[in-house]
Amino acid sequence: MGQEERIQNAYRGLGGKRTFYDGMITCSTLSGRAVCRLVWGMGRAETQDYLSAALAGIPEGFSGRLLEVPVGTGILTMPLYREMPEAEITCLDYSPEMLERAKFWGEGLAHVRFQQGDVGALPFGDGSFDIVLSLNGFHAFPDKEAAWREIFRVLRPGGIFCGCFYVTGQNRRTDWIIRRLYVPKGYFTPPFETAESLRHRLEEIFGPAKVRTVQSIASFACQKVKEEYS
Ligand SMILES: C[S@@+](CC[C@H](N)C(=O)[O-])C[C@H]1O[C@@H](n2cnc3c(N)ncnc32)[C@H](O)[C@@H]1O
Repeated sequence: MGQEERIQNAYRGLGGKRTFYDGMITCSTLSGRAVCRLVWGMGRAETQDYLSAALAGIPEGFSGRLLEVPVGTGILTMPLYREMPEAEITCLDYSPEMLERAKFWGEGLAHVRFQQGDVGALPFGDGSFDIVLSLNGFHAFPDKEAAWREIFRVLRPGGIFCGCFYVTGQNRRTDWIIRRLYVPKGYFTPPFETAESLRHRLEEIFGPAKVRTVQSIASFACQKVKEEYS
């Protein structure tokens, strides 16, 4: 089985366990809180903390074009998009099952569209978006080089790239569980950044970057000031 198929299968399974996934990513249900604590060493406050930092790159009342990739089940962002009726939002994910759930959370939002696709081959023209948001995606993407390149390409000059994902080297127990469980299951795909290598990479590709870690999740925001991808 190829890597792409493995990842799609893994998230097909998770898309099927929607309530469990949503409870885990929001650290809200009993089982979700247990996973947050055991795997990530986080409670609800820390989860909110990294999420707020990841979303801080989106200005209040934003009314431009935003790409979210991967949207997953959409539970983290649909409430925010409800407050941004003037924005033009595109949500993309590899997994049709995850997208189905996102459509459920995004019901009635005419300014949000959902599309199945690969972050490594984005079906959009150069400079199509003012903001690209990527929550908990890079640790899952199979071809990370292609993802960096494509996000750079579809972001307009001066645009914002923000989000969050797992970084290694912050919490030994988390790193162990990721290596022993999440990677074999296909939820996460190495290689992983450290907080420092992430900052360096963002600054090299895009421009000045803010990176903040909460346990093993690094939240970031940067502006595309570089003219060419490097
Ligand atoms: C951990 S989930 C994160 C989803 C959501 N942003 C969240 O925070 O709940 C990772 C997602 O990445 C998607 N994914 C993995 N590889 C992808 C790719 N190459 N292109 C687009 N989405 C991808 C999976 O289908 C899955 O929905």
